[in-house]
Order: sequence, then structure tokens, then C-alpha cells
Amino acid sequence: LAAMPVASMAQAYPSKPITVVVPFAAGGPTDALARILCQRMGEALGQQLIVENVGGAGGTIGVAKVARATPDGYTIAFTHMGTLAVNIALYKSLPYDSQKDFEPVGLGGTNPMVLVTKKDLPAETFPEFQAYVKANEKKVQYGMAGIGAASHLGGLMLNSMMKVDVLEIPYKGTGPALNDLVSGQFDYMVDQAVNVLPQIKSGNIKALGVSTTKRLSQLPDVPTIDEAGLKGYEVTIWNGFFAPKGTPKDVVAKLNQALVTTLSDDKVKVRLTELAVDLPEGKETTPEALGAQLKASIDKWVPAVRAAGVKPE
Ligand code: MLT
Repeated sequence: LAAMPVASMAQAYPSKPITVVVPFAAGGPTDALARILCQRMGEALGQQLIVENVGGAGGTIGVAKVARATPDGYTIAFTHMGTLAVNIALYKSLPYDSQKDFEPVGLGGTNPMVLVTKKDLPAETFPEFQAYVKANEKKVQYGMAGIGAASHLGGLMLNSMMKVDVLEIPYKGTGPALNDLVSGQFDYMVDQAVNVLPQIKSGNIKALGVSTTKRLSQLPDVPTIDEAGLKGYEVTIWNGFFAPKGTPKDVVAKLNQALVTTLSDDKVKVRLTELAVDLPEGKETTPEALGAQLKASIDKWVPAVRAAGVKPE
């Protein structure tokens, strides 16, 4: 195989299962979205896409693993803008260059976030929450999935706009963090709706605000954080597939095609729409669109995070 010319390699691709590195723990939002998409992409490609969870350090460990992988299309990442854009402002030295070390494959979906609290936090509305956190700044704790994670971005923008400095509790993903929020081990978290909606619906945690400028149809009674008091608060999280730099163009095109097929599958659409995932359509599904999205997020979030006064590690 080593001597196989690139053209025939692409023709035969994929001839074995593809590893999809999710840089966060199993059972969280990135993992959930990856598994739904990968199942259908595997059917389209005639080979399984196997999710490998490589959590830690705000997703940087898993993403670095893919940056260093052989660029043959058999190891790719499913990750989000936290690990590739926000992280640039938060680490003195990242183990990869988001724009130089990867070939964008395609956008997987954009997720709103929700401010959720433990069930018995003594606040039923966003203004009550804000007053409680301010009054208890020294003892309140919020959960997040490490420096530069989506939940870190959501939480740090919230705390910065509320002008509070709250102790953060890091996890390898918001899947495990959510379990601890349900059992009341910390006070609040800003996490992607895809992860928290089921626990909100079951009444195990409270939703006090959504991160978008419009309310979510899945949570019509929950105000936007912007309307509830923090004017201008808005955070949404896009997720996408990335291959290591140098992956043959035909291979990237095959992966993208499988993704496009998946995104237009009615069953996938219904399932993800229920979970408040906004799916890309038409031109938004191309590798170029994902590259442009990455650049736009770097341009938007790196200065915003720096302005929030968070120092890089
Ligand atoms: C996860 O999948 O656990 C989350 O996306 C982590 C995060 O908040 O970025």
C-alpha cells in the first residue's frame, strides 16, 4: 500500500474503517453529534466510522493527535470552534496551527447553548441567578470542559459580562460535567443544547437562559440571556470534520460527499432538529465554507476573549 499512487489510493478509499477523533469525553455534545453523523456517513461510504474519544486540555490533545496523523483519510477529527479558534487566545503555545495543519472537510452543525443550573440553586429566573452569583461569588462554582472548550467560552463570556470571578471546575467533556450538575456537585454551566435538553425536559436541571438572539422552539419559555439582562450576549458553537493537512483532495471530497448525503437524510434531520442543531445547507456544506467559518471565528473570538481579560495559560 505504501507504494500505491495517490490516484488509485483515492479510488480504493475507504478500504477499511475510519477513525474519527472526538477531542472530548463520550456522552457529551461533540460525541453525540459525531455518532449520529458518523453512523450515516459510514453507510454512505460503505465503511464504518469509528468514534475515538480523546479528551483533555480543552480538546487540544485529541486535535493535536489528528494534526500529527498520517494524512490518508483514515484518521480525522470531529471538533468545534473552541478547539480551533477560541483556544488561540487561551494557550501560549498550541500544539497545532488551526489553519495550516488541517484540511477542512465540512461543517457538521451549529449548536445554541443554554445556561443550566443545578436543580436546587435558589434562583428561578436569570435576574435572580445573576443576583445570587454576585452575592455568592466566592463560593459559587461553574463547570466547563477545560480551557478553550465551548462551555468555557460560554461561561467566561457570561461571567465577564456579569462582572464576576467564579471558580471553574474542569472536566474532560460536558458529558461527565452534566452528570455532576444533575447530582448538584457544582452550580451552573453554559453548554450546548444538544447535551442538556433531555435533562432539562426531565426536570433534573434548570434552564435560565439561551445563548442565541432568538428563543429556541425547543425551550419556548426560556428567555435569551440577552433579553434577560446581558445585552449583546451571544455564543453559538459550530462543529465540523477536519482531516490532517496533505490528505488527498479526492479523499476529502469523498468524506464531504458522505457528509452532504447525511445532512440531507430525513431521519438525521428530524433527530438533530429535535436537539436544536442548526444544519448547514447548500454552499454551507463545502470544505471551503468550513475554512471560511474557521477564519471568521478566529477573527471574532480571539479578540473578544482577550478583551474579556482571560490570560493565556
Ligand atoms: C463536549 O463534547 O464535551 C463539549 O463540546 C465540550 C465543550 O464544552 O467544548
